[in-house]
Amino acid sequence: MHMRSNGTKRSPLKVLLIGSGGREHAMAVALCKSPLLNQLLIAPGNAGMAPLGENVPVPVDDIPGIVSLARERNVDLVIVGPEAPLADGLADALKAIGIPVFGPTRSAARIESSKSWAKRLMARHGIPTAGFATFQSIRESMSHIDTLPEGPVVVKADGLAAGKGVIIAESRREASDAVAEMIRGQMFGDAGSTVVIEEYMEGPEVSVFAFVDGRTVSNEVSACDYKRAYDGDSGPNTGGMGAYTPPEFWTPELAARIRAEILEPTAAAMDAEGASFTGILYAGLMLTESGPRVIEFNCRFGDPEAQVVLSRLGTDLLEIASAAANGKLNELDVRWNDQAAVCVVMASGGYPGPYETGKLISGLSGVSDPVEVFHAGTATGEDETTLSAGGRVLDIVARGSDVTEARSSVYDAVMAITFEGAEFRTDIAARAVGSQAL
Ligand code: AMP
Ligand code: GLY
Repeated sequence: MHMRSNGTKRSPLKVLLIGSGGREHAMAVALCKSPLLNQLLIAPGNAGMAPLGENVPVPVDDIPGIVSLARERNVDLVIVGPEAPLADGLADALKAIGIPVFGPTRSAARIESSKSWAKRLMARHGIPTAGFATFQSIRESMSHIDTLPEGPVVVKADGLAAGKGVIIAESRREASDAVAEMIRGQMFGDAGSTVVIEEYMEGPEVSVFAFVDGRTVSNEVSACDYKRAYDGDSGPNTGGMGAYTPPEFWTPELAARIRAEILEPTAAAMDAEGASFTGILYAGLMLTESGPRVIEFNCRFGDPEAQVVLSRLGTDLLEIASAAANGKLNELDVRWNDQAAVCVVMASGGYPGPYETGKLISGLSGVSDPVEVFHAGTATGEDETTLSAGGRVLDIVARGSDVTEARSSVYDAVMAITFEGAEFRTDIAARAVGSQAL
């Protein structure tokens, strides 16, 4: 048996980071700034992360493979980027062999992986969210829809559907069709066999993040993301086309209210119900006339929100993750600085529909502070060239003293980076600075 480090011991840590997107690239950059880091392994990583650590080709859904890797390489801490392995019990499997992990257990990951579980938890504990009902039968769903007032109705697949299992139906009729298609048509596979029918909420949306170790909830940070493919929030939903922080409407009073009414009660409720949450709690909120209400929770950082908020983190990410994994977050003061950041995602032409990959990317060598590029889907070609290898290809991020400055820097950088067919939104953070698309 070798000795494992813990949050109190200052010996350098061998860390295994799970994931392969821009979010994990940004996390890897933050981890590499830590004097506590001894070695970084990344499974599976991507071309952009290769200079930061050792990419090991184990896919994120190979739980036994990740557990073997962590054991064989004597890893001190595993940090998990995406939700799928958490929902599949990766944290449980690692804890079972004594390896500290930053990320929730399968039971706590239900806050994201089961919308109906999350909604019932909120209902039991008075956490503000849209009114809802869950169904497994088309007939019962239809009778319920008939009782609703005429107007928009929200229909959601219960399980993980990669952010795409939500339909805002304009009428009861459209809602009934959506339910039938979800339950009968297998539109979202097993994720759609239970549907959640929700009250429609209106207001600005914001993503709020805090580190949690079961009981302690760190200082929070907020960002706005853009899910639709095209300018003006048109086109299909995507994994996320951009983000900025801080939101123009964010105030200390709003932050205090969200902490008191949503973040702290949720962590306490999960702890009290035996599903204690460790990791990053991500609250997707709607700021309605009656106050902030939960749209959904996620059990990990947002992508691309992580790429902007991590640039504002004033505390060592590795120290935070290690403390949280060991239940010692109360010993740390997590700080976020007052800077701003904007991220623009460059995607392959056609994304989120079919697209081509293998396109040569140029202009990356010209990038310098305050701009950073995180790779979302790239590969290394001949002669160390960088090629596109996914739908979302690059996340271009700029910091600035305010959103106006960061936005101007990020678009200057985007214009200088090219690959065939590249698509990006030109209106990221435009509303925050009172301007139109480029
Ligand atoms: P979700 O996957 O739950 O985050 O939902 C995706 C998007 O659908 C959200 O970002 C909202 O814009 C919208 N949405 C989800 N639930 C509601 C709701 N109850 N009322 C209005 N819009 C919603
Ligand atoms: N940016 C939205 C998400 O990560 O779910």
